[in-house]
Amino acid sequence: MENELQSRRVATSDDIEISTYLELAKELHGEQPVIEAKPPTKPETIVVIDFGSQYSMLIARRIREHHVYCELVPYDTPGEKIASLNPKGFILSGGPLSVYEPGVPLPLPYVYESHLPVLGICYGMQAIVHQLGGEVISGAKHEYGHAILHINALDCPLFADLPPSLPVWMSHGDQITKLPPTFSALAYTENSPFAAIGNDRNIFGLQFHPEVSHTPQGKTILQNFVYRICGCHGDWTSANFISENTRKIREQVGEGRVICALSGGVDSAVTATLIDRAIGNKLTCIFINNGLLRREEPERVFNTFKRNLKMDVVCVDAAERFLERLRGVTDPEEKRRLIGNEFIQVFEEEAAKLGKVNFLAQGTLYPDVIESTSSETKAAAKIKSHHNVGGLPPKMKFTLIEPLRYLFKDEVREVGLTLGLPEEMVWRQPFPGPGLAIRIVGEVTKEKLATLRAADWIVMNEIKKAKLYRQLWQSFAVLTDVKSVGIMGDFRTYGYLIAVRAITSNDAMTADWARLPHDLLARISDRIVNEVSNVNRVVYDITSKPPATIEWE
Ligand code: XMP
Repeated sequence: MENELQSRRVATSDDIEISTYLELAKELHGEQPVIEAKPPTKPETIVVIDFGSQYSMLIARRIREHHVYCELVPYDTPGEKIASLNPKGFILSGGPLSVYEPGVPLPLPYVYESHLPVLGICYGMQAIVHQLGGEVISGAKHEYGHAILHINALDCPLFADLPPSLPVWMSHGDQITKLPPTFSALAYTENSPFAAIGNDRNIFGLQFHPEVSHTPQGKTILQNFVYRICGCHGDWTSANFISENTRKIREQVGEGRVICALSGGVDSAVTATLIDRAIGNKLTCIFINNGLLRREEPERVFNTFKRNLKMDVVCVDAAERFLERLRGVTDPEEKRRLIGNEFIQVFEEEAAKLGKVNFLAQGTLYPDVIESTSSETKAAAKIKSHHNVGGLPPKMKFTLIEPLRYLFKDEVREVGLTLGLPEEMVWRQPFPGPGLAIRIVGEVTKEKLATLRAADWIVMNEIKKAKLYRQLWQSFAVLTDVKSVGIMGDFRTYGYLIAVRAITSNDAMTADWARLPHDLLARISDRIVNEVSNVNRVVYDITSKPPATIEWE
């Protein structure tokens, strides 16, 4: 059907108007629901329509940084679903395809029918031009990288508070050769006469990417779009999120009972605290100490939740059970499988003791939601199976509560701080579900766990003292299965090799090894060999991901 729309569009491209396009689209797509403003129970939403750009999620993050709620939806999301989001404007993302190719994804008619403001970025802009009567062709050369944008419509609200020229980031092969009727050029670059376009119905297009950091003033452009053009008020704050969601959780749970697995990480901590705020003692948290946590971690979880927040927490010391399961196991995937299965067993046993439970709370985040909707279509090679603590045991019949499912990690942290969780917990670096078991190369034993804990404690301690903890995505010690010869005093030693790993990353998909100061590395190394028995050598892992992974196993 899109093909038909396109070929008919091309035939009339000279004189097509928006209204003509809408009629044509209606004929082909049928009547689409009219998008109405919803009562303010929903935050004002900017809807990002995703055409497959690698930056789509980044657009949503950028908008939320301006305290405006934003959702990323696939391009073919039905109008009814969009209408329920209380949309105040649309952003059409970039994408890898060419708008003039047959069968490519294009905005559905409700985008234009809504009369809400629209901002097309790169492919999104070209889609607007293509659908509304302009012309897009394959460019003679690709424009990729930095360019200088010259604004010739400085009075346009999209460019408020900006200088006449600014650096922008371009990444496109196709080019616009003719604008649709009623549109004019608002800005140009050396290679793109139509670097920004708009009409008087608040439909705009940008050939460059305002969402990436290489367009330093891009955030002002997006802020102008959401506030000056869409008229948003910035009602997306952690306090509003908490009050809105406590109300929703209360409604959803009613007289039911909820359980939540605490892992010690920020996601499950915020989930549990939010639910506790909503329904108090109808929530029971289960904290399973699998014996694979870092030094003082179980005590910290207990103190925060049970002692300070007075929550109902069942603490289960299952360390022996997990260790027993792991005895003799050296294969990383087998370790993950056994730990995941044991976790489910312990969790089921504890849940059964609570009697009737209706809901299971999970700390699923927005990137996981987006990833799982898109990964169904992506064939990705399996590198590691990530068993997340809190995964739904298939036999157990619960309704899921996932209050963080539309939040990014930084928003979860903000909510955590607003809920009064300690900074230390809110800013904890990610820690894998299988814990120290995948940081001990080879078999996991009590002795090795003690060695690793002691070394890891020193790494953590020194990194925190150097005030680098928050800048690093992860920093930790690994106990290798290598032993080497050393000398201490006048004696020969034969001890373990500890590897120190510290990385920077935005999302753990890729990572760079951190350039830690040499004196910090020297202190870490000195302390480890002096304070941790059985260790006589320390190395620093200088491999990025890819080709390595973050964890050693
Ligand atoms: P890799 O090692 O795959 O790690 O580069 C990427 C991120 O995932 C974490 N990780 C895990 N998390 N269960 C988890 O819950 C796992 O089995 C697991 N393996 C790795 C790792 O710490 C990093 O943040």
